[in-house]
Amino acid sequence: MLLAGTVVADPDTVIEDGAVVVEGDTVAAVGDEAVLGDRYPDHERRSFGIVAPGTVGAHVHSVQSLGRGIADDAALLDWLNDHVLPMEAGLGADGMRLAAELGYLECIESGVTTVIDHLSVHHAGEALRAAVDSGIRARAGKVLMDTNAPDGLRQDTDRALAESEGLIWRYHGADGGRIRYAVTPRFAVTCTDECLRGCRELADAYDGVRIHTHASENTDEIAMVEERTGERNIEHLHEVGLTGEDVILAHCVHTDETEREIIADTGTHVTHCPSSNMKLASGIAPVEDYLARGVTVALGNDGPPCNNTLDPFTELKQASLLAKVDALDPTAVDAATALRMATLNGAEAAGFERVGALREGWKADVLGIDTDLTRATPIHDPVSHLVFAAHGDDVSFTMVDGRVLYDEAAGGHRTLDAER
Ligand code: GUN
Ligand code: FE
Repeated sequence: MLLAGTVVADPDTVIEDGAVVVEGDTVAAVGDEAVLGDRYPDHERRSFGIVAPGTVGAHVHSVQSLGRGIADDAALLDWLNDHVLPMEAGLGADGMRLAAELGYLECIESGVTTVIDHLSVHHAGEALRAAVDSGIRARAGKVLMDTNAPDGLRQDTDRALAESEGLIWRYHGADGGRIRYAVTPRFAVTCTDECLRGCRELADAYDGVRIHTHASENTDEIAMVEERTGERNIEHLHEVGLTGEDVILAHCVHTDETEREIIADTGTHVTHCPSSNMKLASGIAPVEDYLARGVTVALGNDGPPCNNTLDPFTELKQASLLAKVDALDPTAVDAATALRMATLNGAEAAGFERVGALREGWKADVLGIDTDLTRATPIHDPVSHLVFAAHGDDVSFTMVDGRVLYDEAAGGHRTLDAER
């Protein structure tokens, strides 16, 4: 297939009148449309306003997609205890599978091609199966909670770890490595140290398994962790082994100097979730500071009850706007930086190689984006357009691993057995 348009190959590389050639699951060539058209005359040809790499939702809760709007105007701990945890407890196997399926459909049609997905305590296998069947690239895992969680969601530590291990055997590396596992303790509030240390041991026992958790999102959460452990949240995670290049920490809104040093020194990845942080009034994460320290900061939508949408373009825009107004500096988190967070940084956090940009030999995770909304006006800067003007609705074509998963011209979502 040859996908023609203004190619945003990565945040620093724009090719006007460009094209991306896909063969199998791989990008075979990126360059000038006329040149590649001559070189690949027999490839099916499609045209879009912008051709861009698929985005990485580096912290999502697909299983919360049935809970959109159930918990507005609340802060994290009440939001969780009064609304979100009871909803997760109430979902059976069918509900969990449906929730995950709907979450992945929304991701795919709005331009997310890879997710780091925080699943559920129960029936996480249903969600993993939905990820396999959806065609999305996913780093996902079952949630562990062994203390301080409501009845029905609190599990015995050994059982929570054993169920996680069973899912690693079953799903880690599925479909040629498109599905990879993340051991997923919910957060230090609902996990004993035995559980947190067990998560580290489990991840270490399997090549390529990562760890994904929430950290330092809200000041009340941090106070609870401090009361239990006598330590700041990130210091404690470090103490029990939950920092490092295989760890993804969602949020990290409130961190002190020592914690920031720990994150940077250990190569721990941070996922910034600007819309969620605003809606739950959690605070403003020090993204510029993390980036200046060399931390890989990715972007995530978090779950539908704390954002209402899995559209990655809202996060791109909010990440930039929030940083600018926080610093009173219009250069903070510029468009290229935001796009890098949502693509290359997300892929690095998720641990997928050759993902996050359109380059020869890289994975064919590609979006076709309509620019009709600006029919009458020129797009002077396609990267700026993606960050400040585009919406998930503008995505008319989504490909993951060379498979067309969504194609508006062909009626929308496609099933996985569609030919590459
Ligand atoms: N911290 C622990 N659980 C959750 C959750 O489901 N969502 C968010 N935003 N933060 C959390
Ligand atoms: Fe979350």
